[in-house]
Amino acid sequence: MKYRKSISSLLAVAAAYCSIPLLILWVAVQGAEHANAQVVHEVVSPDDAGAAAAFEAIVPVLRHPRCMNCHSSGDFPRQGDDSHRHTMQIRRGDGQGMNAVRCNTCHQDHNLVGVHMPPGAPGWHLPPPAMPMIWEGLTDGQLCELFKDPQQNGHRTPERIVEHMHTPLVLWGWAPGDGRAPVPMPQHEFIAKVEEWAAKGAACPMGASARMTPEDSVVHSSSSVYLQRATN
Ligand code: HEC
Ligand code: HEC
Repeated sequence: MKYRKSISSLLAVAAAYCSIPLLILWVAVQGAEHANAQVVHEVVSPDDAGAAAAFEAIVPVLRHPRCMNCHSSGDFPRQGDDSHRHTMQIRRGDGQGMNAVRCNTCHQDHNLVGVHMPPGAPGWHLPPPAMPMIWEGLTDGQLCELFKDPQQNGHRTPERIVEHMHTPLVLWGWAPGDGRAPVPMPQHEFIAKVEEWAAKGAACPMGASARMTPEDSVVHSSSSVYLQRATN
């Protein structure tokens, strides 16, 4: 009996000793995994850096008045290189204008000839009030995140954003009609950069400076989405 008991206690001790190396191994593995996780978090992959750089390359087009005049704050389109408020009390309404004053009353599917004549392209309108696609006041990184957010970008994947860059309202930026400067980058270069951004995983630039004007912060303070994004 005594003999049996000592064997079982011996086994128990042996088991305990065996498990110590296992425990040490387990702790070591945990530690290594933790360290790896930190490394992965800190090192930006070459594709992420490439995607972010490709996005930065298209920013001068996105921020150009030819695009911003429909993607600015306020419930109205803007006009000219100084992006002044559209004359004649034109409002967003449902995106197509208000009441009898619809965009297509004046804007045709092509530019009308002559300085200060209405420009035009098929489907000329503003984004709808529920998803106004306002880019003004966002940093480059926030603008990029908006392009990736289906809740804000018209339910698009990055691939669909690439396709959208071939649609009439975007292409109009290269042929905006008499007296208007086109966007500042050859079209094939722009498309190639947008494609590169999506193909490399659509990562976004980080830490770009905020571009808030006092006017923006007033307008955007009504939108928690943009305020949240601004603090991210
Ligand atoms: C006449 C007004 C108008 C102009 C000018 C315009 N857009 Fe837009 N844009 C729109 C509308 C309307 C939508 C929403 C289309 C939809 O979802 O069907 C939109 C949506 C977008 C979207 C997807 C939504 C988002 O914000 O992520 C992108 C990208 C875009 N436009 C790029 C451009 C670029 C680039 C230019 C300039 C070269 C431009 N747009 C000029 C009206 C305009
Ligand atoms: C009563 C006629 C009229 C209506 C309605 C109208 N526009 Fe215009 N719009 C014009 C004219 C004219 C111009 C050209 C002004 C100029 O070049 O000085 C213009 C210019 C613009 C521009 C400026 C393009 C640029 O980059 O300089 C945008 C954007 C625009 N309109 C969007 C809209 C949208 C969106 C709607 C509907 C919500 C709309 N407009 C309704 C007459 C109109």
